[in-house]
Amino acid sequence: MIQFLLNREMREEQDLSPNMTVLNYLRTRVGKTGTKEGCASGDCGACTVVLGEREGEHIRYQTVNACLTFVSALHGKQLITVEDLKSKDGSLHPVQQAMVDFHGSQCGFCTPGFIMSMFALSKNTPSADRHDILEALGGNLCRCTGYRPIVDAALAIAEQPQRADDFSRYEAEILAALDRIQVDTQITLNGNGQVCYSPVSSDELAALLVQHPDARLLAGGTDLALEVTQLYRELPKMIYVGKVADMKQLEEDEHQLVIGAARSLSDSYEALSRVFPDLGELLHRFASLQIRNQGTLGGNIGNASPIGDAPPVLMALNARLVLRKGDTVRDLPIEEYFLGYKLTALEAGEFIEQIIVPKPTANQHFRVYKLSKRLDDDISAVCGAFNLTIEDGTVTGARIGFGGMAAVPKRAAACERALLGQPWNHATVKAAMKALTGDFEPLSDFRASKEYRSKTASNLLYKFFIEQQSLTPETRVTSYV
Ligand SMILES: Cc1cc2nc3c(=O)[nH]c(=O)nc-3n(C[C@H](O)[C@H](O)[C@H](O)COP(=O)(O)OP(=O)(O)OC[C@H]3O[C@@H](n4cnc5c(N)ncnc54)[C@H](O)[C@@H]3O)c2cc1C
Ligand code: FES
Ligand code: FES
Repeated sequence: MIQFLLNREMREEQDLSPNMTVLNYLRTRVGKTGTKEGCASGDCGACTVVLGEREGEHIRYQTVNACLTFVSALHGKQLITVEDLKSKDGSLHPVQQAMVDFHGSQCGFCTPGFIMSMFALSKNTPSADRHDILEALGGNLCRCTGYRPIVDAALAIAEQPQRADDFSRYEAEILAALDRIQVDTQITLNGNGQVCYSPVSSDELAALLVQHPDARLLAGGTDLALEVTQLYRELPKMIYVGKVADMKQLEEDEHQLVIGAARSLSDSYEALSRVFPDLGELLHRFASLQIRNQGTLGGNIGNASPIGDAPPVLMALNARLVLRKGDTVRDLPIEEYFLGYKLTALEAGEFIEQIIVPKPTANQHFRVYKLSKRLDDDISAVCGAFNLTIEDGTVTGARIGFGGMAAVPKRAAACERALLGQPWNHATVKAAMKALTGDFEPLSDFRASKEYRSKTASNLLYKFFIEQQSLTPETRVTSYV
């Protein structure tokens, strides 16, 4: 049984397929059809809804793609859709009014999704700047209006003093209702012959997975749900990790960050980019805000995609995975996790519990570059992460990770060897670039040709070198937007 607030109405669902997405639930079970289906794959944002959750004394509002969110994720949360924004007295919400005033809608199909992204932004970042707005809207596509009027509407809201809406007026009531939902005990959702268990601690998760080694782990579902929405498969048994409180934690000391595998990509990258500022750019270019709010760091590794962005970064940063099966815990360097295409070192009944990332030492230089066809919401053709230690002009440490260059995310071993112990100069970099082309035999696909991948991968090392020089040339495409 799951329990959640549909705006301010408490709902309980007993007999519901755990394979049902929030989008289908809204449209077919509740009759709320304001939330649209465009792609059913997380790419267009037409299905954007907002999930509210207690954070301290207030509610944290996060956009997610309803098409990729299974209903188990609703337990204990407030689900807000475009129908809920109008005030009780019938007046439009300020973000809706701004879209009208700035002519931000033509056919209107994308509009509910944009409205929900703008609503969450206006609640979380009332004085948003242009950058915040572009980031918040990066996961919403519009085919006819064009983005200028929409961005203008968002800018206008940010310039207005924040106005009370029904969400601020009823916040205390909503918080009290959320508090009445029992979120610290395990729940199970059954329906249509499928089951989804939602444990609340890693101990419970470990026990359940040993008992049901055939179950699929569900985190944000931004990869897994595609099996249902795109491949029309059935997932008869799932274990949802989104309620496992201790796997969402971040622990930090002077030596390392320990990130719970169920921590969202938004929150994980926020912590990582405080320590490794260059990760900030990757954070903004990783999928869309909706996906980053929903997807997890553990899911990005667990999915074992050769083009996932976190694995090459974590390899370069010498990260380790804490893997757990029942009460047995083992610690594995991340590069030993990927054995072949979508093949990992995980045993049946085992899961990723934590990711340990050592903090940088003196003279360590870290950079990451993502090459993709679009700036926002696009998968990498190549992702290269470089972590070099340079002492007195000599390379004393080199860890280089690449995605998109092989069947697995992989370190550039020959390139690292060509750098180690060498003076950090043009000749060394040129030799290391040559070595790098021997490290990989990339494939051609619709994202990039093998020649492009090979050439750009070694050029990224050159870019790193240029950025390390005292000159400050503009090397980042993000600086121009
Ligand atoms: C529109 C769109 C854009 C995207 N853009 C990017 C991008 O730019 N870069 C990128 O890297 N990815 C991208 N992705 C892929 C996806 O969002 C990420 O891989 C995400 O991190 C997956 O996390 P999740 O929590 O949603 O995983 P889920 O879908 O829940 O799970 C993915 C897999 O990992 C397994 N798993 C989950 N948690 C664990 C665990 N703790 N231990 C072991 N196995 C586990 C699951 O069983 C499943 O097999 C995109 C996806 C979409 C739909
Ligand atoms: S329907 Fe396109 S992102 Fe959900
Ligand atoms: S108004 Fe038609 S797709 Fe945006």
